[in-house]
Amino acid sequence: MDAIELDFAAPRARAEPQAAMDKLVIAGGPRLAGSVPVSGAKNAALPILCASLLTAEPLRLANVPQLNDVRTMRTLLAQMGVAHEEDGRRLALSAAHLDWPLAPYELVKTMRASILVLGPLLARCREARVSLPGGCAIGLRPVDQHVKGLAAMGAEIDLEHGYIAARTRRLTGTRFVFDLVTVTGTENLMMAATLAEGQTVLENAAREPEVVDLARCLVAMGARIAGAGTDRIVIDGVDALHGAAHAIMPDRIEAGTFAAAAAATGGDVTLEGRLGGALDAVVEKLREAGATVDVGDGATRVRRDGPIAAFSLRTAPFPGFPTDMQAQMMALAAVADGTSVITETIFENRMMHVQELRRLGADIEVEGNAAIVRGVPRLAGATVMATDLRASACLVIAGLVAEGETTIDRIYHLDRGYERIEEKLGALGARIRRVK
Ligand code: EPZ
Repeated sequence: MDAIELDFAAPRARAEPQAAMDKLVIAGGPRLAGSVPVSGAKNAALPILCASLLTAEPLRLANVPQLNDVRTMRTLLAQMGVAHEEDGRRLALSAAHLDWPLAPYELVKTMRASILVLGPLLARCREARVSLPGGCAIGLRPVDQHVKGLAAMGAEIDLEHGYIAARTRRLTGTRFVFDLVTVTGTENLMMAATLAEGQTVLENAAREPEVVDLARCLVAMGARIAGAGTDRIVIDGVDALHGAAHAIMPDRIEAGTFAAAAAATGGDVTLEGRLGGALDAVVEKLREAGATVDVGDGATRVRRDGPIAAFSLRTAPFPGFPTDMQAQMMALAAVADGTSVITETIFENRMMHVQELRRLGADIEVEGNAAIVRGVPRLAGATVMATDLRASACLVIAGLVAEGETTIDRIYHLDRGYERIEEKLGALGARIRRVK
């Protein structure tokens, strides 16, 4: 990895976050064709930005996606005293002086991933005040495993007026078994353990590729971690971490979203990015649905020219089918030949896109955590509302195949996790525009 040098001289044009009430207008029909660059992974960038809190030296990142959630995290870190300099997709973070280990409700309520500052702040500052994240559209999403794990490492934690108030003399390594698989829970405890006294063993840990990318960055910073990517991660604490350079992995969910759009429109799209095995479960399901997928070393080609076959899928922790792709695949199932069954096992309320898909003419019944999707010959454009990030992506895919015009309101959800989606889709031939 060549050192990532940043010249702080020239002022940078900042991509302005999109206004809240933007809409997307899509004219359905075109088959997507061409190649699209996959951006850096949102769910790797967010914990890795928090890792900057663990050292006084600069953390130099490359391939950082330009997303609203990343901007929110930068604002949160800056409020604590972290200096950060952006140069396009390069970002240098320096937590030399942390004067305010607080994550206020105003920011945490807009982004649950703010909880990822808790472990690093406890490890570096020995104290933290982090607002409890409110629920969100897809479920209650408590953080009990984060709190339980940090308490097991010797943190004293009180819940005061909606805040997690935590402090410790020094975290001590321990063996902790998660009651359930949690991605950010695993990431929080792994970061905390890097500076704890002694060894920490995390059992029933999340195996997501984003956990592995975070571990790679932490090891480059001097952490001693073994087993990332398995359900047993062993961390030997050290006294201090140092600066490092790290390039964020490609976003497998953005890639999967474009892959589903290519399959839905009967297109031929090449996804540029080294995905490794991160998208295997999605690739298998797309093949089952009738797409042809060629996985290369640095690119993945997705096309579909036969019928869309109905399929069944059940979300599960990695390496199972990712919950973050469930809504997108439902858009594909909506126009498949036959009846598909889609079961959501991770979140208790991740079916908000169903009623919006029905407005476009989809035939879907929800029974508990399963959606029975009876494929229809075609969808019809309408005005629909985005409710959460991946539901928004589902509606974009549906709009691409619906007859006529589809308008999607509240696309600020989309801007949290997709970089310039209308430009990338437009470059593939979609008729899509953002309306202020
Ligand atoms: C991460 O969220 C992702 N976000 C989510 O992506 C993703 O959907 C989710 O993992 C599952 O893969 C980031 O990485 C920033 P969990 P996270 O903790 O860590 C329950 C997107 O669209 N749980 O793995 O918050 C929880 O309620 C977002 O990019 C507890 O009960 O999810 C859920 O039902 C959406 N107690 C299940 O576990 C806890 O302490 C999995 O949650 C923690 C979690």
